[in-house]
Amino acid sequence: MIQKPKGTYDVFDTQGKQIQYLEKLFASLMEKYNYEYMRTPLFESSELFHRGVGDSTDIVTKETYDFVDRGNRNMTLRPEGTAGIVRSFIENKLYGRASIPVKCWYMGPMYRYERPQSGRYREFYQMGVETFGSLDPMIDAEIISIPVSFFRLLGLKGIKVHINSLGDIESRINYKKALLEYFEPHIETLCEDCKNRYQKNPLRILDCKIDQDKDILKNVPKLQDYLNEQSKKHYEAVKKYLEALQIPYIEDPNLVRGLDYYTHTVFEVEANVEGFGSRNVLCGGGRYDGLVETLGGPKTPGVGFALGMERLLTALEYEKIDVIQNKTLDIYVMPMGEQTKEYAIQQTMLLRMNGFTVDIDMMDRNVKSNFKQADRYHTKWVILIGEEETSTQIITIKNNQTQEEYKIKEEQLIQFFDEQIEEDMHETI
Ligand code: HAM
Repeated sequence: MIQKPKGTYDVFDTQGKQIQYLEKLFASLMEKYNYEYMRTPLFESSELFHRGVGDSTDIVTKETYDFVDRGNRNMTLRPEGTAGIVRSFIENKLYGRASIPVKCWYMGPMYRYERPQSGRYREFYQMGVETFGSLDPMIDAEIISIPVSFFRLLGLKGIKVHINSLGDIESRINYKKALLEYFEPHIETLCEDCKNRYQKNPLRILDCKIDQDKDILKNVPKLQDYLNEQSKKHYEAVKKYLEALQIPYIEDPNLVRGLDYYTHTVFEVEANVEGFGSRNVLCGGGRYDGLVETLGGPKTPGVGFALGMERLLTALEYEKIDVIQNKTLDIYVMPMGEQTKEYAIQQTMLLRMNGFTVDIDMMDRNVKSNFKQADRYHTKWVILIGEEETSTQIITIKNNQTQEEYKIKEEQLIQFFDEQIEEDMHETI
């Protein structure tokens, strides 16, 4: 039997509904924030990620899915969404719009060749946002507020926002110098990857999973001591806006993130799933004021974040939040006999076109097993269509919870369900 590739998963049963619900909720939240939907290709030139995400990152050195296409071009399946969106922003000259900042959102699969385990997949889905053109720290706070509002809407309680500042490019250069000086006498004690990182980007050493516990990493110069006035001011303002938005945060000076493009604010939002460790990070993001320029566009600041669908599902499960519990079938239609089916399917379609979620028996079940099927769907309303209903066009409706029965004329069917289902909604609120 052919099996799915390692690190991937299939969606079926209730998980499909859950995912669709989360995607819809995210899309409607983004509408409220006035962000526009963008979509970019699943694969891009490999160079985009080398220059964009960074040559010294694990993502690019160890985790990309690379291939040479039939035209001999080096291509990579996108490991994340930001680089592609920035490429599109430049290529489509979105920087020329009068209505800056450009604010957009996206969702879709990303690919990283990581060691698969729960919470870490080779194909995983992100929902993310990117904004371009504003240096205002208010937008950093707005970006952080998006996942926080999303998680609050979902009712997640155990979330924690971690923030840090990596400073502007000048501060980063000064810090990099300090790190090079600090590590120089100790290069030999570093792991092979970190020796490489020392050459390419010493900041990455701070993020190393192997060297993390070595003494040499305990006394590393602190980035905060190298932030210039401008960077400190920006960071203070972001915190002020978070407080205004009543978003509690934890300052984490060790938070550097695994991608090279960040400047100033970086953040991660963690869930609280026991035994999940670093896989508790539901989302991460930050400011990247140099990335548009690095990728060949005009100097344009940017801020964004992305959140992982799979980890969100795990966090919801852990907190026992069932997002689809009330999202059931409105009406189940039972035709009783071959001659009633045409009329029954017409009524089903009519109800669907009027906004109800409706299904109809397609298995010629008898009445008893049809009611069982309605129970499986948790359907409150059942329509029975027998020969009498077909000829009189007076329809029998049963409330599957109270067993009450109603006889309703065909032309009043929509009005009946409009009223009943509205009443049901009030009851659940
Ligand atoms: P990232 O931290 O690499 O950032 O990924 C964001 C989120 O995607 C993570 O917090 C996690 O929930 C999820 N994720 C990452 N890798 C995996 C995996 N192998 N399996 C399951 N979930 C995963 C970025 O991707 C940046 N592009 C975020 C950003 C946007 N920064 C600025 N704008």
